Amino acid sequence: MTELAGSGALVTGGAGAIGVAVARRLLALGAEVTLADVDADGGPETAARLGCHFVRTDVRRADDLTAAVQAAGARGPLRFVHLNAGIVLERSYDETDESSYRRIVGVNLDGVFWGIRAAVPALRSGGGGAIVASASLAGLVPVPLDPLYAMTKSAVISLVRSIGPGLGAEGIRLNCVCPGFVDTPMAPAVVREMGFPLLRVDDVADAVMAIAAGDDNSQAYVIQPGLEPFAYRFRGVPGARTHGDGGERTVSATGIVGSAAPTG
Ligand SMILES: NC(=O)c1ccc[n+]([C@@H]2O[C@H](COP(=O)([O-])OP(=O)(O)OC[C@H]3O[C@@H](n4cnc5c(N)ncnc54)[C@H](O)[C@@H]3O)[C@@H](O)[C@H]2O)c1
Repeated sequence: MTELAGSGALVTGGAGAIGVAVARRLLALGAEVTLADVDADGGPETAARLGCHFVRTDVRRADDLTAAVQAAGARGPLRFVHLNAGIVLERSYDETDESSYRRIVGVNLDGVFWGIRAAVPALRSGGGGAIVASASLAGLVPVPLDPLYAMTKSAVISLVRSIGPGLGAEGIRLNCVCPGFVDTPMAPAVVREMGFPLLRVDDVADAVMAIAAGDDNSQAYVIQPGLEPFAYRFRGVPGARTHGDGGERTVSATGIVGSAAPTG
């Protein structure tokens, strides 16, 4: 495991339910924890209660993420980043206006992409570490009630699988978690009314920490009530065939297209 005692750790969306649970675990391991959140009212209070540093951060803004990474790195060599800020829209595609579209893409996707961009140089200079992004099961299954949420979470999974392999040689591991419904205010009321099994916040936080402690890279971990978290196995895509020869060739050597074989 990456040694976290005395290191810097950053949690975006850190004032929220899952962010706080992850922060508690990081603190217990002796990390210096910075919570980055847009919540300028509750965020500082939450951070003070936990014993964390707080940086007001709008993850839609690349500059804010750079500043948050700098703040976290100033408290110890950065070794762990949880790109966790996220919102739901709960609107059908034909009810979605442009500002709602920009908002959810900004928080859920830009926040992860620019978070990775900001965190990697800091992790590299500290000798490596782990990034865990909060995707969702909604990134792996169709979600007619919130298609933009599903779209952004699918994109997070794709970023992790596309960027992660190139970071491994530098001792940086990039993975994401794909929880089902969690017992936080974000879980839709209808899900509670149906009595659908909900994850506890602790289930997600434990999985995040286990991934941080493990060796895996570029994986999307499914977290569901009653199941052990597992790395989702994506089906492979058949490789390109040269006309006429019937053979199968993959154009994967440079990573341009990827492998025909099932990939993690
Ligand atoms: N709760 C669930 O059912 C569930 C399921 C799967 C995945 N997730 C994902 O887990 C993550 C955390 O969810 P949660 O349940 O703790 O939600 P939450 O609402 O309790 O926490 C989200 C936090 O993100 C912050 N935030 C929102 N916009 C931001 C912005 N522009 N910049 C910085 N911070 C911002 C909020 O202030 C809040 O503190 C999210 O990415 C969510 O999509 C949640």
